[in-house]
Amino acid sequence: MRYPEEVVQEVLAMNDIVQVISGYVVLNQRSGNHVGLCPFHNEKSASFSVRQSEQFFYCFGCNVGGSVLTFIMKIENLDFVGALKVLADRVGYRLPEKEETVSAKQQRAAREISAELNKQAARFYFDYLYSDATDAVFARKYLEERGVHPTLAKKFGLGLSPSMWDGLIKHMSEVSPEKLVAAGLATQNRTDATKHYDRFRSRLMFPIIDPRNRVVGFGGRVMGGNDEAKYINTPETSLFHKSDNLYGLNLARKARTSELIVVEGYMDVLAMHQWGFTNAVGVLGTALNDSHVRLMKNAGCTSVVLIMDGDDAGIRATLRAIPALTKGGIKIKVLNISEQTSKEYSKAPKDPDEYLQLHGAAPLAAAIKNAKSHVAFQVKLEMDKFDLSTTDGRVGFTTEAAKLLATLPSAIETEAYVAEISKISDISPGAIFTEIDKQRGVVSTALQTTRRHMAQTSRTTHGIKKAREALLHLVLTQHTAAAALEHSGYIGAAELGGGLYAELLALAFANAAQDKQMSRTDIMSHFDSAEEHRSIVEIFIDQPMQHDKIAIEKTLNEAAFTIKRAWAISEMSNTENDQQALQALGLLARSKPQISI
Ligand code: GTP
Ligand code: MN
Repeated sequence: MRYPEEVVQEVLAMNDIVQVISGYVVLNQRSGNHVGLCPFHNEKSASFSVRQSEQFFYCFGCNVGGSVLTFIMKIENLDFVGALKVLADRVGYRLPEKEETVSAKQQRAAREISAELNKQAARFYFDYLYSDATDAVFARKYLEERGVHPTLAKKFGLGLSPSMWDGLIKHMSEVSPEKLVAAGLATQNRTDATKHYDRFRSRLMFPIIDPRNRVVGFGGRVMGGNDEAKYINTPETSLFHKSDNLYGLNLARKARTSELIVVEGYMDVLAMHQWGFTNAVGVLGTALNDSHVRLMKNAGCTSVVLIMDGDDAGIRATLRAIPALTKGGIKIKVLNISEQTSKEYSKAPKDPDEYLQLHGAAPLAAAIKNAKSHVAFQVKLEMDKFDLSTTDGRVGFTTEAAKLLATLPSAIETEAYVAEISKISDISPGAIFTEIDKQRGVVSTALQTTRRHMAQTSRTTHGIKKAREALLHLVLTQHTAAAALEHSGYIGAAELGGGLYAELLALAFANAAQDKQMSRTDIMSHFDSAEEHRSIVEIFIDQPMQHDKIAIEKTLNEAAFTIKRAWAISEMSNTENDQQALQALGLLARSKPQISI
């Protein structure tokens, strides 16, 4: 059975690593660490170190390390659950009964049913769009008029919901209406609970597909003008969360670029893809938030171009998106679509779709290439707030601009903006730099350190993530590789950054002993949350299945080395004055493993 992550975290929080390990090893305090003789190999001088602040142990002699759970697993020779029980007993924590996982299981099953129903509905809407029905003929004509090519419509799986109260309900008559309601496909009559209607009627249907390639929901657009809402979405269900999905990401991730283009509407995503911008995604009528950023990063994204509609709502949406993206270490460029039109057109296009119909792809590609960072966009907004013909206005503007520039990590970029602002405000670059320095002083040094650290990690994390994924894929699918890695002791939970990856490693190691291959479904069944499943799918996407022993060894050693080196380097940045530890870490960062299978 599997315990929820919260339970594991609670048990960990109650078991201080120094206290637990002190029960097995005599520890002495030395420069912030607790050190002692390693219980996992024979040694005379102490190379086993426990770091209380990070709840983490490591032996520089035999390269074994991890959390308090790893320690108990190793020293008591237990599996994950066994070790968890030991730690829970130690502090009198009552682990939840089996019932809880049963309900978690039920929830998971319910989500899978909803996904299956949404898939069947997508199929139904799709077939209906290509049927002979009058509304279908009309819808196809509508798409043609809007310039949506049939190939593209098929690629996005567009469909049509019939103009009937119960077209889908009838089509799925073997499914209970309650299940259709739970899946977001039907609604219940407010006064008569026995009556149900199709949620989507007479709408152009845009299926929303998650990273696991499941249809999790729909957007539906009215056709022709009437006073209904232009778009309706699947409501929040156990399966569908609009702030947890990006429209078109399933296709955009195939573009294999580290840059994503973010647009506002469904039709905009379609138009962008049609005109060759296959890395475009859409937010589903909500503000771009941390979940979106996580999805993007999982897709390998390191920079985005926000294309905003020229109206106030577009500006607000862009301003709201900036903090989440900055926090995620993603580089941002901003493009106001309404400012991109040439003078020969009297009316500025309001969104990327209109723009592309007017101008085609080439000028948009150029504009995207030249798009300015979000700071330029924010500076420009500040400019509009002040009357630059007055001294007060120019001083006010320059002060606000300096505040924005103070957040820029790049000196080159800062200098370029200072030059521009100096021209606008007629204030000397020197004075602006002084103001920026002053503003930077306001930002505490701690914050700056974090920012530097973030900038550093965002540059390298992609490679490390890939290496971690490659390694996990290998040990999860090849039990001989798992056994060899475990035997080497070269990589443990800590090197994988803890969390899900560490659990997967533990699972692979646990399975290595059983001499049995795990399927992806077996692996998934150990985890409950959609997020975990998504990450597991990520690990399996695009990984070559290797059969050749030499190739397997090569991948294993290379990935393990990348992971170890990154870990050692990050440990070094946390190790201040302990020369011995620094030297040991330096050595680790340089020595390649020789794990053989
Ligand atoms: P077209 O008018 O067909 O070109 O659609 P669009 O994709 O350009 O949509 P628009 O710019 O009007 O709106 C942008 C996005 O906001 C849409 O794609 C929807 O996600 C969302 N949206 C727009 N109108 C509504 C609405 O009435 N209700 C809801 N829930 N969302 C809407
Ligand atoms: Mn539009």
